[in-house]
Amino acid sequence: MGMLRTLRSVVRLRRSELDRTARRLRGAANLDDLRRLAKKRLPGGVFDYIDGGAEDELTLDRNVRSFREAEFRPRVLRDMGAVDTSSMLLGRPLAFPFVTAPTGFPRIADPEGELAVVRAAARAGVPFTLSTMGTRSIEECAEVAPEGARLWFQVYTWRDRSLVQEMVERSAAAGYEALVLTVDTAVLGRRERDVRRGFTLPPEIGPGTFLDGMLHPGWTWRFLRSEPIRFSNVVGSSVGDGSDAVSLAEYMTTQFDPGLSWRDVEWLQSIWDGPIVLKGIQTVADARLAADAGVAAIALSNHGGRQLDGAPAPFDLLPEVVDAVGHRLEVICDGGVRRGSDVVKACALGAAAVMAGRAHLYALGAAGERGVDHMLEFMQAGTARTMALCGAATVADLDPTLVRLPSR
Ligand code: GLV
Repeated sequence: MGMLRTLRSVVRLRRSELDRTARRLRGAANLDDLRRLAKKRLPGGVFDYIDGGAEDELTLDRNVRSFREAEFRPRVLRDMGAVDTSSMLLGRPLAFPFVTAPTGFPRIADPEGELAVVRAAARAGVPFTLSTMGTRSIEECAEVAPEGARLWFQVYTWRDRSLVQEMVERSAAAGYEALVLTVDTAVLGRRERDVRRGFTLPPEIGPGTFLDGMLHPGWTWRFLRSEPIRFSNVVGSSVGDGSDAVSLAEYMTTQFDPGLSWRDVEWLQSIWDGPIVLKGIQTVADARLAADAGVAAIALSNHGGRQLDGAPAPFDLLPEVVDAVGHRLEVICDGGVRRGSDVVKACALGAAAVMAGRAHLYALGAAGERGVDHMLEFMQAGTARTMALCGAATVADLDPTLVRLPSR
């Protein structure tokens, strides 16, 4: 009898939690709203780690602004009775031209972390990218991925290359489709919000953060109740798996190889059969070298404004890069994507797809897995609506005549 009563109250509690989440999401009309909700629900240090950029955050701001300054040149009377957002990327279909970017430590936003994003991305029909610095392992993500889900794995080059090789082999064994080599992180950018807060990974609930924890009891309760956050891909290896809290800068400096070069791209190609995406290309010159190296795709990216402050916005680079190498590889635009209209603008200028990272982290922080569903629905609906309003019934109909860039 007692058991039954306990079970009933657990079900009731769960139901009221789901109702609260649904209510919260009904009021979230866009990504800014999800960001605001995440800010309210997450401790300040966690929110700032996700939200912040390097130094003066000029590039972070420029990434978003570059999309806003572009104007549509919409065509009309083109029969928009059926709009199809589906497209192709790396030779396989996706429901709309969007990929979830690799992001470190999603479990600090929500205990499910990457597992929630894998499932939501699969439901939305878009590829998911797991970070080397993930908080769920290569295998855990593959395990929850439904049939047909597209999984990519992001590679940081450890000083210990055997660790990279092992992760690449594990990715192949687990059915991952592509590797994304991050090339903009010779050293870690200076994220001054994290410096000010002394932010560590995993976040420490110590005397300094006690008040913050008290002010965010929901997060603190979930954080303390769930299994400890670890750098799941390296648990059991000798490089430190986050059992001891570290600053990211300290960890990266000791573990990652600043000597990364084009020779390593060749090495990666020699140990991986599938497509490779170079993420962090920021000039036409390097885009040409990437094409010469024979990679399948590049992601124009400045790491979400978290590395070199003063780096160009990927969207601004698109026309010249697509012009130079668009016939030799696929170009993904990563950074500043906040709406479906940004997806449309990037594709009109020749991007094969966009990548976004903060989008799913805000969504996770705001409302967990349902938040990520909500964000992806918002992005796809916005893509479809913008296409209809621009007179493009298919992604193939998007072309540069639909967008006017500000004259510089
Ligand atoms: C990790 O890659 C980060 O940008 O924090």
